[in-house]
Amino acid sequence: MPRNLWEIFKMLEDDDFRVLRAIERFHGKYEYVPVELVEKAAGLPPSRLVKALHRLSNLKLVKRRLGNLSGYTLTYMGLDLLALRNLVARGIIEELGDKIGVGKEGDVYIGVSPGGDRVVVKFHRAGRESFRKIRRHRSYALDVRATTWLILAKIVGEREFKALVALEREGAKVPPAIAWNRHAVVQKYVDGLELSIVRELDEESAFRVLVDSVETLRIAYTRVGIVHGDLSEYNILVKLGEPVEAYIIDWPQYVYKDEPNAEELLRRDVTYLLRFLKRRFGLSLDVEEVLRYVKGEVDEPPW
Ligand SMILES: Nc1ncnc2c1ncn2[C@@H]1O[C@H](COP(=O)(O)OP(=O)(O)O)[C@@H](O)[C@H]1O
Ligand SMILES: [Mg+2]
Repeated sequence: MPRNLWEIFKMLEDDDFRVLRAIERFHGKYEYVPVELVEKAAGLPPSRLVKALHRLSNLKLVKRRLGNLSGYTLTYMGLDLLALRNLVARGIIEELGDKIGVGKEGDVYIGVSPGGDRVVVKFHRAGRESFRKIRRHRSYALDVRATTWLILAKIVGEREFKALVALEREGAKVPPAIAWNRHAVVQKYVDGLELSIVRELDEESAFRVLVDSVETLRIAYTRVGIVHGDLSEYNILVKLGEPVEAYIIDWPQYVYKDEPNAEELLRRDVTYLLRFLKRRFGLSLDVEEVLRYVKGEVDEPPW
């Protein structure tokens, strides 16, 4: 049995991708796509179709339902492979390596670009957690009930990609976005440590983490018009150089600043950040002053 996504990718043949794409095409309409439709859309003779479906089922890239509403549906891994195929065909990535994170919202892999650079490939999952957030945040408020997980996962991918592009353009310290397809976002690899595991920093370095994070929140709010909404020590990467730098990652759940809950989420993000930096590194700043600065109500930083 193949062990990982990349091994599966290398085993698949053109017929397999045609069948995956055929099922994907009807996914908005059918939870399980009738086999006649798959056959028509894939344009394969029955013998090749059966072979491909068999292989895809064994690899758990599609799921079959029997009974009166019988048919095939994509699994998350099936969708991952379609995105991967696109990214490879476009010359965005040349190889997919280890999984570096299995978050609640997605699977994150290291990849290699054709130029040999390390990149990060994040396959979004619109699971239970996202659905909860989606109900909370108005900006997702498309007709959520009428859409499937697959469409939602793609929306989440697009949101993260576009947020990263806008943030980087305005000079925020976030991983630069490289490409997006379906629910997958490719970004530059930030060679840093999650703040959660950074136990000791000298005062100057801890201060840099604070300044970089707050400046990014300010750019997000004043120039891009968004609030992160899920800031924590797990979504800040610390690059241990001279000077130390901090990058804020994981943006798909952002809200626009004029949404009703934006104020509350911004206050939560800032309070959380300051409380963490105080507890771990002894830095002390006033939440209200930082909030005023982040919102652009004052131009003088509070430090
Ligand atoms: N651009 C990046 N560079 C380096 N590591 C990353 C990058 N993006 C994500 N990671 C790693 O993967 C983990 C999960 O990514 P994240 O975007 O926070 O997704 P989620 O928390 O929704 O699963 C992060 O905590 C981080 O360790
Ligand atoms: Mg995260």
